[in-house]
Amino acid sequence: MAEYILEAGDVEFSYPDGTKALKGVNILIEKGKKVAFLGANGAGKTTLFLHFNGILRPNRGKIRFQGRDVGYGHAALLELRKNVGIVFQDPDNQLFSASVLQEISFGPLNLGLSREDVLQRVRAAMAATEITELERRPTHLLSYGQKKRVCIADVLAMHPMVMICDEPTACLDPKLARHMMELFDQISREGKTVILSTHDVDLAYSWADYIYLMKDGAVAGEGKPESIFRNETLLERTGMERPWLVDMYLELSKKGWLSNSVPLPRTKEELFGIIETDAGMSHVKCCVL
Ligand SMILES: Nc1ncnc2c1ncn2[C@@H]1O[C@H](COP(=O)(O)OP(=O)(O)OP(=O)(O)O)[C@@H](O)[C@H]1O
Ligand SMILES: [Mg+2]
Repeated sequence: MAEYILEAGDVEFSYPDGTKALKGVNILIEKGKKVAFLGANGAGKTTLFLHFNGILRPNRGKIRFQGRDVGYGHAALLELRKNVGIVFQDPDNQLFSASVLQEISFGPLNLGLSREDVLQRVRAAMAATEITELERRPTHLLSYGQKKRVCIADVLAMHPMVMICDEPTACLDPKLARHMMELFDQISREGKTVILSTHDVDLAYSWADYIYLMKDGAVAGEGKPESIFRNETLLERTGMERPWLVDMYLELSKKGWLSNSVPLPRTKEELFGIIETDAGMSHVKCCVL
């Protein structure tokens, strides 16, 4: 049976100015899965994420961690935040220490670890996010992409069970964005749960085990990537684009160049593999020859 590490049950939330940001959100995050949240600007992704580690508290409904209702007392919140780490959408909301080294050390130092353990965690987190050479730099002088990586290292060094990243690849150059996604895969292979929000449908489609599609403060759709992106009605209703791999697959199928038995590829390597097999593109080969 599935084990749910994080849940939102009928969560409603309005900001102090009256903006109703979440309107009865239900989420079940399975332990160890890679989950992506998609949705237009203002759909409520960030607001929901801030509920997952207790920064915001629902006006109605519940957040549950490992099957238990989240508590909002000081000790309960500290415990929750030790286990559920969040990388903020805007790095300037997260970084507050003078130097990169101090910034990443802050969290682990507060866990009461020895100096050696803290340093070891900090060095590993800096190496994983490729910021070792920035360790003495003042955080406020870094570029946006560098700040984003410091934020990811911040959370990595805490060794949380759940890592939540709000638009982790926004403004990273393509090589670093790919590297970050590989890092999240590695974290996932270690048994951790990784949740991210993104506007990149190609990334969500290839990377996620499960996708939530949000619209106007509610969940408009959820499911495995293949079923989300084959659901025309849902995509139309939410104004979501289709990943290029799905477009390509549908076009090749429409032309009869792919047999019906060929499953939807999740990566370009899978697509190229299909193209190379006799079963997949026999018609094309036949025409070309
Ligand atoms: N501090 C705030 N005060 C008032 N309203 C807010 C605040 N933060 C967000 N909102 C509003 O809440 C709604 C949800 O915003 P949220 O930031 O959660 O969306 P999002 O899906 O993360 O969008 P984006 O893709 O742009 O990051 C929006 O209508 C937004 O204007
Ligand atoms: Mg957001």
